[in-house]
Amino acid sequence: MMLSHSNRKPLISCLGAIRVLVFHLSLTQVCRGQSHLIGPSQPIVAELGDDIILPCQLNPAEDAAGMTLEWTRPDLNPRFVHVWRSGQVLDGKTHKSFEGRTSLFINELKDGNISLKLSNVKLSDHGTYRCFIPAQDKQMFVELVTVSGAVSSPLLTLVGLDQATSGVVLQCESKGWYPEPELLWLDAEGKILSAGPTETVRGPDDLYTVSSRLTVEKRHSNNITCRVQQKKSNQIRETQIHVPDDFFNIQSSFCAVTVGLTVTLAVCILFISLLVFFMWKKNMMKPKRRQWDESDKGEKQSLTKIKNKDQVFTEEEREKEQLMTREKITVKTKHIQQKQTELQQLQEKIQSTQQNLQTLNEKLENKKKELEKPTSLLSNWFSSSQKAEAEREVEMLKKELETTETELKTKINESEDKQAEIQQLEVEIQRMETNNTEMKNVQQSADKRSECTQNQLKTENEELIQIKRHVNQLMAEVQKLNEEKQRSEDQRQQLEKELETKKQELVTQLQANAGDKNGSETLKQLRGNTITKVLKQPKDTEEDKKEAKTLKEVLEKMLTELLKQPQDTEEDKKEAKTLKEVLEKMLTEFKKQLWAEVLKRMNETETLKNLLENMNEE
Ligand SMILES: *[C@@H]1O[C@H](CO)[C@@H](O)[C@H](O)[C@H]1NC(C)=O
Ligand SMILES: *[C@@H]1O[C@H](CO)[C@@H](O)[C@H](O)[C@H]1NC(C)=O
Repeated sequence: MMLSHSNRKPLISCLGAIRVLVFHLSLTQVCRGQSHLIGPSQPIVAELGDDIILPCQLNPAEDAAGMTLEWTRPDLNPRFVHVWRSGQVLDGKTHKSFEGRTSLFINELKDGNISLKLSNVKLSDHGTYRCFIPAQDKQMFVELVTVSGAVSSPLLTLVGLDQATSGVVLQCESKGWYPEPELLWLDAEGKILSAGPTETVRGPDDLYTVSSRLTVEKRHSNNITCRVQQKKSNQIRETQIHVPDDFFNIQSSFCAVTVGLTVTLAVCILFISLLVFFMWKKNMMKPKRRQWDESDKGEKQSLTKIKNKDQVFTEEEREKEQLMTREKITVKTKHIQQKQTELQQLQEKIQSTQQNLQTLNEKLENKKKELEKPTSLLSNWFSSSQKAEAEREVEMLKKELETTETELKTKINESEDKQAEIQQLEVEIQRMETNNTEMKNVQQSADKRSECTQNQLKTENEELIQIKRHVNQLMAEVQKLNEEKQRSEDQRQQLEKELETKKQELVTQLQANAGDKNGSETLKQLRGNTITKVLKQPKDTEEDKKEAKTLKEVLEKMLTELLKQPQDTEEDKKEAKTLKEVLEKMLTEFKKQLWAEVLKRMNETETLKNLLENMNEE
């Protein structure tokens, strides 16, 4: 069994060189008199993520810097790709998909070079571009072909056997194409073989997958090639497979022989699949040829052995065996098909992961390019002096940014400080408010208390007034007693006077009655005693008067003091009470003394009266 696998990578660089040659050739075809626009005669091929130049040159050279220059794609709306007017780029008009990806070589405009630089090529960039100078009504078209760059070599698999034509069915599949490719089956001489329709599937990444099936019949040479190509981008990938003659021989021979065929086929498919799998895993892009030893001679030997056996068997036995072997074959083919599908799934998985990796790589590349873009743009757009100026400007802007940032920071800090202050103030205000309410409460309670004390004072005042009244009453009583005392004194004085007169009368009587001397003498003594006694007593009354007066004064003083001090203190109250008690006691005592005196005086006057009466009787 023989299998070979090869592919041809497009020689884009080589073709590019050819294109440049063609371009220069066309440049040399200078049209005398009027200048015109020239560009490449062949499409520009760009891979996904490339930066490319769409050439456009005024020939003979003419300064185009002052002209209005338009790069458009007539199939788009808006059609503008890049517009140069009055010495600057007109951004507003351009199609969104080209934003930030196009530029002219400004320094080369003066030489009539109005080539367009297109960065980070997308698949959707493919199309026909028009380089146009409206003022001179000159135009030129450039075709851009974008390719994915992730094209896979066709995968050739043995799908099964065609009973009707006794042929072998092959399948070819290739992924990652853009634009849509064509698929061809070729024989060893390079003749195109007619096959079933090509199935084309477009994935979500806009890339095409093509597949096709071919039934191979027995030929002299069964070197079959599957070729997938994209003519515009000059991309070609192909894979070759050798289907051995044995396949077809066995097919047409006895069914028993098909056992061997099936085994061979299975082995072959397994080998192919393993090989393909291995190749994918190693990501082998360059063509490699692998050869196996001509064949498995052992297999052939076994086949001949089976044939020999067949000759020995009878027809019945042969029929039985045929039935059995058929069953075995169907089971085995099913098993093989299962294995194949499993293998295919595996391969697909590997392919998809590879593509993922590639797209990731592309993205990375794009990112890198994007990062590099601004600096490259700067270098392209400005001369060194302009660049320096721009850089200076950028520097200044940076500084400005920094200063504004610092200012912002300080302002933020300030505002933060202020906020903190405000918070503090708020806290203080709250504290003050709470204090206020507390104060109010205190005041209310104080008000209540003062009300209480006022009431107390009132009652105390009333008590005092009562005490005063009482004291007044007492004083009035004292006055009365005093008056009575006075009266009794007056009486006594009268009695004394009477006694004096009686005494004198007695003396005269005694002088007249000189006879009874002893009797008169004892009487004399008796009388004299009583008289001295009576005369002695009225002396106390003066003192008593004084005492009463001083007592009264003291009392009055005390009273005024009491009335002066309406303090609410407990001590004062107590004092007042004690004072009151003392006063009352004093008054009662005074009263008693007075009464006792009055009674004494009255007794004395009575005895004096009796004495006088006795004397008168004698
Ligand atoms: C125009 O300028 C670009 C950038 O310098 C250059 O790559 C391109 O070859 C020039 N085209 C012609 C026709 O000189
Ligand atoms: C078929 O291909 C094999 C391997 O590529 C080669 O050795 C053989 O000569 C080819 N046969 C024909 C008839 O081209």
